[in-house]
Amino acid sequence: MKAKMTVNKNFTISEIDRRIYGSFVEHMGRCVYTGIYEPGHSSADSNGFRGDVKELVKELNIPIIRYPGGNFLSGYNWEDGIGAKAERPRRLDLAWKTVETNEIGVHEFTGWAKEVNAEVNMAVNFGTKGIDSARNFVEYCNHPGGTYWSDLRKKNGAPDPFKIKTWCLGNEMDGPWQIGHKTADEYGRLAEEAAKVMKWVDGSIELVACGSSSIDMPTFASWEATVLDHVYHHVDYLSLHRYYGNQKNDLKSYLAKSVDMDNFIKSVIAICDYVKAKKRSKKTLNLSFDEWNVWYHSNENDKKNEPWQEHPPILEDVYNFEDALLVGCLLITLIKNSDRVKIACMAQLVNVIAPIMTEKGGAAWRQTIFYPCMQAATFGQGTALTPIVDVPKYDCDEFSGVPYLETVAMHNGEKNEVVIFAVNRSQDETMEFDVELQGFNPTTATLSELAGHDIKQTNTKASSPVAPKDGTAKVSGSVVSAALKPLSWNVIRVGVK
Ligand code: AHR
Repeated sequence: MKAKMTVNKNFTISEIDRRIYGSFVEHMGRCVYTGIYEPGHSSADSNGFRGDVKELVKELNIPIIRYPGGNFLSGYNWEDGIGAKAERPRRLDLAWKTVETNEIGVHEFTGWAKEVNAEVNMAVNFGTKGIDSARNFVEYCNHPGGTYWSDLRKKNGAPDPFKIKTWCLGNEMDGPWQIGHKTADEYGRLAEEAAKVMKWVDGSIELVACGSSSIDMPTFASWEATVLDHVYHHVDYLSLHRYYGNQKNDLKSYLAKSVDMDNFIKSVIAICDYVKAKKRSKKTLNLSFDEWNVWYHSNENDKKNEPWQEHPPILEDVYNFEDALLVGCLLITLIKNSDRVKIACMAQLVNVIAPIMTEKGGAAWRQTIFYPCMQAATFGQGTALTPIVDVPKYDCDEFSGVPYLETVAMHNGEKNEVVIFAVNRSQDETMEFDVELQGFNPTTATLSELAGHDIKQTNTKASSPVAPKDGTAKVSGSVVSAALKPLSWNVIRVGVK
């Protein structure tokens, strides 16, 4: 099979906001406890954070991490996580029916995030809490001093403000499963008033309002339109959440799920722009796709969990090769929408539907999906170029006209390189791929490929067979060529003059 992509230096989508390679840490399962934090582990630092996990997180190059939830957020008192650890309350977490010990709170998490070179995307509880708790939290984190909450922060060991820039106004408030679930009008009014005062406390912060928890929600679209009617002028981003699975074991449809993500993003953009027009506003609202991933392997197991355990192993999806290919397609889709998607957070970071797995008291390892995430965050920088792609298409149960090749190119002016990400969805045919680079002068090209594995192949603590290998790419004049193996994720890096 053959495919050709043409890109031109002057035909661009957008500068890529690096925050689209974000992640998410929720106080649930073993994400925090025995994930990032395990005092007593042989690699733990003096604060109890696992050193082996820190190294893997740094390797992922994550620019921003959403915290502390998730469904957990809607019953969380941030004040439980400050002050002497020994005096922090143990609480029932009603979202996941577990016990939260509060050993980790805002001080510990922001300190850890700094060490792994990530900024924090902080979320405030709009389930059981509201305006007062939110404005106090902004004051605690960001006000320099001389007031009750900022002085309490200093007393608790942080003389300098945390300077948290991005704040989420609640989590999935459209979902009946959410503690303090609200109608769109109830949430919209609360978010509007809270946003106003949070920005009065610190005018430099950016706010994310809750969009629908999935495009499948019956209230999707009307939720967005109603909420935005209230908050349009007060917030900077609207959130999207979406998880995928191969429950039907139908590979053709599964690898095409990025078409659904693209459709979801385009639909939310249309709603934002409808509200913009309705309000005769000059402001264009951007999107934060702040929960996305594959989530389905662990569903059956999780039904067996006994309630009220401390950090039980829940949502521990073990990812396989086909999941890594879909994650590659989803990352490409985020880049192709980088003119409006400015933040995106893969959910989650460690153990809970995560690229990194750990064993309590033991090893930490890279799941299959680790690699496309790491390579996208490391090499997917600069300006996204408009991809004009000529490639055969297929129909499947869930979608029609799916291109066999999902691809995008980026120009990194600082490094003088054009980078191309490509997933060959064909199960049996190599893709002879030519990329014409107009306005560039290509000199060298390298290929890294994730290919040649059984689609159900996983990585384990003992061995990681699913990992990228070097392939071959060639330059001939303005054209870069590579043979992309059947079912493969590929990174082509082209040196340009
Ligand atoms: O990431 C797991 C859960 O998925 C989050 O807690 C919630 O926001 C979503 O439903």
